[in-house]
Amino acid sequence: MRIIGMISGTSFDAVEALLADLELDGDRLVCDLVEHRSVPYPASVRHEISAMLPPSPTTIEQVCRLDVAIGQFFGEVAKELADEHGGVDAICSHGQTLYHWVEGAAARGTLQLGEPAWIAERTGAAIISDVRNRDIAAGGHGAPLASLLDVLLLGASPTAACGSLNLGGIANVTVLGPGREPLAFDIGPSNALIDAAVEMLTDGAQGFDRDGAWAARGRADAALVESLLDDPYFALPAPKSTGKEYFNLGYVTKRLKGREISAEDLLASLTVTTAESVAAAIRPFHVTELIVAGGGTRNLTLMAELQARLPGVKMRRTDELGVPEAGKEALIFAIIGFLTLHGLPATVPSCTGAARSSVLGSVTPGRAPLAALLAPARTGQARSPQAPTRLVVRSPLRSA
Ligand SMILES: Nc1ncnc2c1ncn2[C@@H]1O[C@H](COP(=O)(O)OP(=O)(O)O)[C@@H](O)[C@H]1O
Ligand SMILES: [Mg+2]
Repeated sequence: MRIIGMISGTSFDAVEALLADLELDGDRLVCDLVEHRSVPYPASVRHEISAMLPPSPTTIEQVCRLDVAIGQFFGEVAKELADEHGGVDAICSHGQTLYHWVEGAAARGTLQLGEPAWIAERTGAAIISDVRNRDIAAGGHGAPLASLLDVLLLGASPTAACGSLNLGGIANVTVLGPGREPLAFDIGPSNALIDAAVEMLTDGAQGFDRDGAWAARGRADAALVESLLDDPYFALPAPKSTGKEYFNLGYVTKRLKGREISAEDLLASLTVTTAESVAAAIRPFHVTELIVAGGGTRNLTLMAELQARLPGVKMRRTDELGVPEAGKEALIFAIIGFLTLHGLPATVPSCTGAARSSVLGSVTPGRAPLAALLAPARTGQARSPQAPTRLVVRSPLRSA
């Protein structure tokens, strides 16, 4: 099946779209990665999202307008990518998270915008959307959904303990090892606090600290770092999830208490806070290897601070496994969409905290009947497809 996976993450910097051919072969999910692209949001949409995110108040009218604007933009991105490759069967769209509702250790709900009808109308493909809520309804966090890809790619129980770390707006990790159930959780902020500070310092002219250059010129303020790390979220046991409702500019200004600090020192402090919180979350698992993805891998100061706190841990980008680091999340949604259309579950309960593994999402039919999308069973007899236990990246892609 030819499918596109799409997401714009909590950094709402760009829509990541990955086109892949997926097929089941016994217990293997075989994938040929065809193309990944990052398409930045138009400034107007980015501005609207930024203006609506908590703690800003918003209205139902704004929510409705943004739902349409994001759906239309996802539709454009998907249409262009699909057309350049002769069309696709299906598209799984995560959309844009506007609110992830967490109370203490439990997730209660989550809201992603990007009305799928616009994507279906523009492309004619079947759309799988709203992929997180079913897991929450089953008692899970609806996150980190990346745990499925990590388990399929690295094996549920590898011979040596390893981790798969995603450094998006929020950092999440999956930990795998011999004799233990896979575990995954949102660690806390990755780029969220750094981006928020840069936006404030530049009056919105810049959205992130390119290459970590700003932080590299400053010195972390130990007392500020300590107060930034002093938060009950970090001590909560997994599974747990969080978002920018929690880790945003307000989180920083509350701890600054109005005191003066240079831009360089503030960014150095936020970068060290991020590296320390990520390292502290991973240390107890004694991993020997960490597979990393996400835009944070391009922040050289963050990566150096992280490596310094995890000596002896070998860090590799997902690119080495054939999955471009910026396209990893889009691949997850391509896989989820594929599994949903086959009626197969796509969550790892020990990772999301759900009572069971669920078939995810809502389906918006495209022009072709849904049944026509499913490849006939290889034997020619109607056979129920089997949930895959391994992912084989037959045709890899690397970051551009
Ligand atoms: N060259 C770079 N230098 C430093 N940080 C970067 C760079 N490129 C991307 N980033 C960071 O990565 C973020 C986007 O990462 P991404 O993985 O897309 O996160 P999300 O999934 O939250 O959208 C940007 O907001 C920025 O903080
Ligand atoms: Mg992004």
